Amino acid sequence: MKQLLTLSRAARLVGVKRGALQKKIRDGELPTFEGKVSADDLLRLYPQVHLEDNKELERVTRIKTHAFARRVRDYVLPDAEVLAARLTEFGTELAEAKAKLDRYSTFVSRLKDKCVEIDNISGDELQSAMGSLSGWLHEQLEIGLLKSVHAEPLLVKDRLLRVMAANVHILPSGHEFFVEGTDSILEAALRAGLALEYGCSNGNCGQCKARLISGEIKKTRNHDFVISEAEKGMGHILMCSNTAVSDLVIEAYEAGGVQDIPLQQISARVKGLERVNDDMMVVNLQTPRMNRLRFLSGQSVTLDVGNGLKADYAVASCPCDDRNLEFHISGAKGTAFTDYVFNKLKRTDAIVIEGPKGDFVLQEESPNPIIFLAYDTGFAPLKSLLEHAMALDVAESIHLYWIVSVKGNHYLHNLCRAYADALDNFHYTPLVGADARAALERVVDDHPDLNEFDVYVSGPRRFASVSEKILIDRRLPDNQLIVGTIS
Ligand code: FES
Repeated sequence: MKQLLTLSRAARLVGVKRGALQKKIRDGELPTFEGKVSADDLLRLYPQVHLEDNKELERVTRIKTHAFARRVRDYVLPDAEVLAARLTEFGTELAEAKAKLDRYSTFVSRLKDKCVEIDNISGDELQSAMGSLSGWLHEQLEIGLLKSVHAEPLLVKDRLLRVMAANVHILPSGHEFFVEGTDSILEAALRAGLALEYGCSNGNCGQCKARLISGEIKKTRNHDFVISEAEKGMGHILMCSNTAVSDLVIEAYEAGGVQDIPLQQISARVKGLERVNDDMMVVNLQTPRMNRLRFLSGQSVTLDVGNGLKADYAVASCPCDDRNLEFHISGAKGTAFTDYVFNKLKRTDAIVIEGPKGDFVLQEESPNPIIFLAYDTGFAPLKSLLEHAMALDVAESIHLYWIVSVKGNHYLHNLCRAYADALDNFHYTPLVGADARAALERVVDDHPDLNEFDVYVSGPRRFASVSEKILIDRRLPDNQLIVGTIS
């Protein structure tokens, strides 16, 4: 029987991105069986795989960790009880593997006996004995006794990964993610870029209720929200209050679009203020632990600093970190709001966030390579989209072109370069030009046929309409052009 692996697990094992495996599936190089791939086929495509061969995965994980300012999860062990439960499961699987190995030993010893018997036979009987031996061998091979032995290193690695992380499969979407460290199921899903339904993150509201179809979970916190006995009988759980012990299949509601995200009003605190150049302030806000902002990457909110001073800004960070929000505020226009941010706002001040709004969001289900085209501060929503795309790990490749009107305005140039250094499938081209048309020519020179791409354009309305014309002329289908304008 074939050893089947989910796409996420297979990508981890061979150290490539899920998008790379999806491309091989689309190209017919990698067969799938009910959405899974076989270890044998994986080894055929990646024969060099061995236990240490995971550098790419590690590099991607590292850059994500730095980029999103998260704790270094690699060194966070799961809760001791969870680890013990996973190890028990692991032990069971090892025992099964040993039983299989015993069968192989029996087979080899019976083969040896048969060879000894044949050694003592001669004449006509020899031919018949050889025929019977050949039939027996054929039968043993047919039932797969000797197959898949070469897949062992991969399977060993799979067993080890299972101890450190459990795979969760969400129905009906088919999305998958891993639960690592001490994360709850909800935290892990958000980290993976999924827009699951939730509210308080703390066991009070019940909005993260889901149905466990299979697998074992462990409660990580007591919760005030009451799940009735009837619901418990049907497998209902709170994703914010449980973690995964084994691989899980869960039925859960996911936001299908901006219409599924509620309007929220949250009082957040200023956590960081960094003036990255003369005209640009990067503002980091932190929401209360139990009142985080649900939003989709690319969306905006209204920031209200009090005294009637408010303005709309795109969230520049990934929804996978719903508590720490980043905003890029340009002082170039010199409004009362920006004057306040540049001259009076300080750490720990309160800012009321209202939102989210806007439909400039990621086409999450599209496997197409992505081009991001930012003009000046149009970079902010694209940064959120970019980080979300990286967390989802679906796009085959991502190319960011950041065009600025004045030299020196690539205010997060080093961050973009760090992404490009760390990720093989991410490319970054900074361009300077008051005339956006000339810069856009560079983009279409790099990609003369845009038929297979998704292109996200973010900038002032004039830039958006110039881009639209040039891109459509290069065979970019209308529905693969996603435009967000800034004022
Ligand atoms: S998010 Fe509120 S109970 Fe889980």
